[in-house]
Amino acid sequence: MAPQDPIEFDLERIDQLIAREEATLEPKHRASIEYRKTAERYVAGGVASSWQDSPPHAIYVDHGQGNRLFDLDGNEYIDFHLGYGAMVVGHAHPTIVQAIQAQAARGTHFAQPTKGLDVIGQNLTERFGLPLWRFANSGTEATLEAARLMRANTGREMLIKIEGTYHGHHDALMFSVAPDRSLIGPREHPVTVPQAMGIPKAMGDLVRVVPFNDLEGTRRAFEENPGKIAGMIVEPAMMNCGVILPEPGYLQGLKDLCHEHGAYFAFDEVKTGVTLAYGGATEVFGVTPDIVCLAKAIGGGTPCGAIGATEELFGPVLRGEYDMAGTFNGNPLTMAASRATLIEVLVPEAYEQFNRIDKVMEDGLTSVVERYGLPAYVTGVGAKGSVIYSKQPVREYRDAVGIDERISYLAWLFQQNRGVFKSPWSKQETWTLSVWHTEDDAARYVGNFEEFAAAIAG
Ligand SMILES: Cc1ncc(COP(=O)(O)O)c(C=O)c1O
Repeated sequence: MAPQDPIEFDLERIDQLIAREEATLEPKHRASIEYRKTAERYVAGGVASSWQDSPPHAIYVDHGQGNRLFDLDGNEYIDFHLGYGAMVVGHAHPTIVQAIQAQAARGTHFAQPTKGLDVIGQNLTERFGLPLWRFANSGTEATLEAARLMRANTGREMLIKIEGTYHGHHDALMFSVAPDRSLIGPREHPVTVPQAMGIPKAMGDLVRVVPFNDLEGTRRAFEENPGKIAGMIVEPAMMNCGVILPEPGYLQGLKDLCHEHGAYFAFDEVKTGVTLAYGGATEVFGVTPDIVCLAKAIGGGTPCGAIGATEELFGPVLRGEYDMAGTFNGNPLTMAASRATLIEVLVPEAYEQFNRIDKVMEDGLTSVVERYGLPAYVTGVGAKGSVIYSKQPVREYRDAVGIDERISYLAWLFQQNRGVFKSPWSKQETWTLSVWHTEDDAARYVGNFEEFAAAIAG
């Protein structure tokens, strides 16, 4: 089939297809829908996290194995969701299972340091080029400490963050994560929009929001707040509106701007770290920030988080002036799983495999986009990638907010109905590959996408 002239999305047709695909999906999930009623009796909404519940209904998982996921109804899927990208090692990887079992038999928690911390720290230093590390239990905790460290070291209170990025659910940074278009204000001065009820307005007064890929916007933020900004946190490649890559020179430009103004520069690599490449976005884009926040994939499926920084930044912690603390920080179970993940599974060859399969995904999806004339394009790096439903390159959140969510929702339904599990919340989520994914899995994803393309192209 030759490339087609670009079509426009027909939203009426897309609504009809959504209704058809939802009707096909519902009977496949009877056990999930039923079980929810039981769970709801004692658990708010029947789910453990609000983001486990998304349209058309919560899907309860029974178990996973390698690249496969099995739900309560016994449906089998190739898993490209992978627990929001945390399971790059795949489910129940024998090496990780063995490491967890061995540690469980020796005790799972002491709130005392254990031997082997240095091995993980050394591995992270090798990957991310930062000399010192501390451990936490989630990405939220990692970015919370990063924000506080930048404040502690400068005596300043304001932070800069990018519009449309998520850094976890603490009050310091949960602003303008996915703000409604009607609330975002002018591009030169984005409004700092709280993402949840109950976040004090006073916290928002300490956060200046700027667009991604816009050095001038960040320069303006610094110039308008002289001597007030402690630091800036950025997801080096945005991962929540599809994959949005930084333009050449942008990340280095931000780092220079921060340092010019006596502020620190932090990467939130919770999604990109150890997935885009061995050394995450820091390696791919060739910029080492002052702080790197990690979580998700470094724990091999256990609750995890890590903060890497310069000696200068860790100064208050080293001098005992700042308690970077947590009962479960560095708990031996997570440390055992992390050690196996970082040292035995996510070795350099794993990234060669991710890049090879990513190429199959990208080439296959791009060919479908061209053959059906979809106003869309594909981006991918290492274990992550996405289809973005826009003719124009999406450089920042404001470009993505105009894309009708129904299109990616329909793409999700097509995959779900045809044996592929994609991240259910925010249908513009990326796909993630695990070390168990094969070219056949990529071909299945592309094949389903072609059915979707054929259906919407009519
Ligand atoms: C970029 C980024 N930072 C931080 C977080 C928060 O991590 P956690 O859910 O482990 O608290 C997330 C979660 O999705 C994330 O995507």
